[in-house]
Amino acid sequence: MVEILPSILSADFTRLGEEIARVESAGVRMLHVDVMDGHFVPNLTLGPPVVKSIRKVTKLILDVHLMITDPDKFAPVFIEAGADQVSVHQEVCPNLDRTIRMIQSEGAQAGVVLNPATPVAVLDEVLDVVDYVLIMSVNPGFGAQAFLPNSLKKVRQLDERRRRLGLNFAIEMDGGLGPENVAHAVEAGCDWVVSGSSIFLSADPATTVKAMQQSARDALAVRA
Ligand code: DX5
Ligand code: ZN
Repeated sequence: MVEILPSILSADFTRLGEEIARVESAGVRMLHVDVMDGHFVPNLTLGPPVVKSIRKVTKLILDVHLMITDPDKFAPVFIEAGADQVSVHQEVCPNLDRTIRMIQSEGAQAGVVLNPATPVAVLDEVLDVVDYVLIMSVNPGFGAQAFLPNSLKKVRQLDERRRRLGLNFAIEMDGGLGPENVAHAVEAGCDWVVSGSSIFLSADPATTVKAMQQSARDALAVRA
C-alpha cells in the first residue's frame, strides 16, 4: 500500500479545515505539515499552534517535516501539539541517533530527511533505528519547484539497503510530485509520496488525489 500525503503548504490557509476535509474525502490517511524557520531554509511557515488546531479537526496521521535548525528543542513541542510522526534533517543533527531516539521516546514515529546534495550513505548507522526516511526531490523551502530526477537513484539505493538488511523503515519522497510522476517514485521504492501544489492548486484536489492513488497502485503492481 502506497500513501499519498497532501502537503498543506499549498492549501488555502484561510480555509484550512475545509481543505483538509476535501483530501480526507478522497481517502488519504496521512497529512504532511511543513515547518520552516527562516534559517535552515529561506522561508517561514507555521508553528505548534497551527498543528494543534489541525489536530482538532482531523484524525489523519500528522506527518510533521521540520525544516528548522534546532529540531531537538522543538520536536517535543510539535509532538505535544499533536504530531504523530516527526522528521528532522540529517544536515542539522550532529547527534542524529540521539535525536531519533528522543522523538520515539516522546511517543512519535521518527524520520530523517536528506537534502538533494546529501548522500544516502550518511544514514547507514541509523537505518535500523529510524521509522522512515524522507528523500527530498527538491531543495527544501518552497512548494511548486521542479522535481530533481537524481532523487530517484537515492530511493533505489535506500530500497536496496532495506531489502539487503531485512529492515522495514518506510521511504518517503517530497517535492515536485504529482499525477505525472508519482509512478516513478513508487517504482523506485517509495511508500509515501508527498504532494502539495499539484493537489491543492488543482481544480479539484480530491480528484487529483484519487488519480495519484490509482497511479501509485498501478506502479506498485509492477514493482511487486
Ligand atoms: C518543500 C516542502 C514540501 C512542499 C512540496 O520544502 O517540504 O513538502 O510542500 O510542495 P510541491 O509538491 O508543490 O513540490
Ligand atoms: Zn515537506
